[in-house]
Amino acid sequence: MKDLITKIQQLKSEKQAIILAHNYQRPEIQEIADYVGDSIELSRKAMEEKDAKIIVFSAVDFMAQSAAILNPTKKVLLPTLGARCPMAQMLTVDEIQHAKKRYPKAPVVVYVNTLAEAKAYSDICCTSANAVEVINSLDAETILFGPDRNLAEYVAEKTGKKIVPIPEWGFCPTHLLFQPEDVTILKQQYPQAVVMVHPECSAEMRKTADYIGSTSKMCKYAKASKAKTFIVGTEEGILHRLRKENPDKQFIIAYADAICPNMKLTTLDRVYTSLKEEKHIIEVPEPVAKKARVALQQMFEVKS
Ligand code: 13P
Ligand code: SF4
Repeated sequence: MKDLITKIQQLKSEKQAIILAHNYQRPEIQEIADYVGDSIELSRKAMEEKDAKIIVFSAVDFMAQSAAILNPTKKVLLPTLGARCPMAQMLTVDEIQHAKKRYPKAPVVVYVNTLAEAKAYSDICCTSANAVEVINSLDAETILFGPDRNLAEYVAEKTGKKIVPIPEWGFCPTHLLFQPEDVTILKQQYPQAVVMVHPECSAEMRKTADYIGSTSKMCKYAKASKAKTFIVGTEEGILHRLRKENPDKQFIIAYADAICPNMKLTTLDRVYTSLKEEKHIIEVPEPVAKKARVALQQMFEVKS
């Protein structure tokens, strides 16, 4: 492993590459990354990157696409093409057009967990870190929102607006695995524990939470909190960062099998091959990228 890490580091400097990694990546990938973050932080990093020629995006398809859209002069590499977010496939352009016919005046907000084509048909994007602020920034009471039904319900609760989910039942298969009874059992064992939950979890699961937020917001919350024990309701990859940043605190996953298999497809071997052979290049055709870029940039304008 040491050898492989050295080879990756050599290639990185030879080729002027940087590695961006999502909070759900394997620990060894987080360790070789130049930056680890949630989806909005990684998009911003990719957008603002000046020096690197290559960005290796250790995450899933839609995140690498956003980087390619926001910084088209860089070569964006996804170490394996199989790393696809199933939720991002759930919102098609047809679905958006169909919903627009039913609600012609309603703006379309898409979660960044969408493919570029869906973003191109939206008015603005959001992430789990800023969804409430994005919805509140819009001068409309009815909003089309997709693809995550749970996030749609969460923002409806927070904003009091009518949020129409498109499609009706978009979901993250990994976050669906979290169930409130597991939190109840863990709370018996750790009564002082603080519960942190991702908004992609079900309403029942969100009800168990002391804090609801994006992956990086959870990291910030845990760091600032005086609590010593945390029950975590999001993909287990986050535990590496939480434990590293808070060695004096205890983090327990609410459900041990909540693993995103797509995020875990990125391995050190694949990062090495990706850098060596400069594959797989993620490109978005400019007519689509141009429109999707506007929706992403609109999101960056919203203060959160
Ligand atoms: P974050 O933006 O909170 O990192 O979430 C991305 C994601 O895919 C959650 O499943
Ligand atoms: Fe997609 Fe869920 Fe994996 Fe996040 S955890 S990348 S939403 S499948």
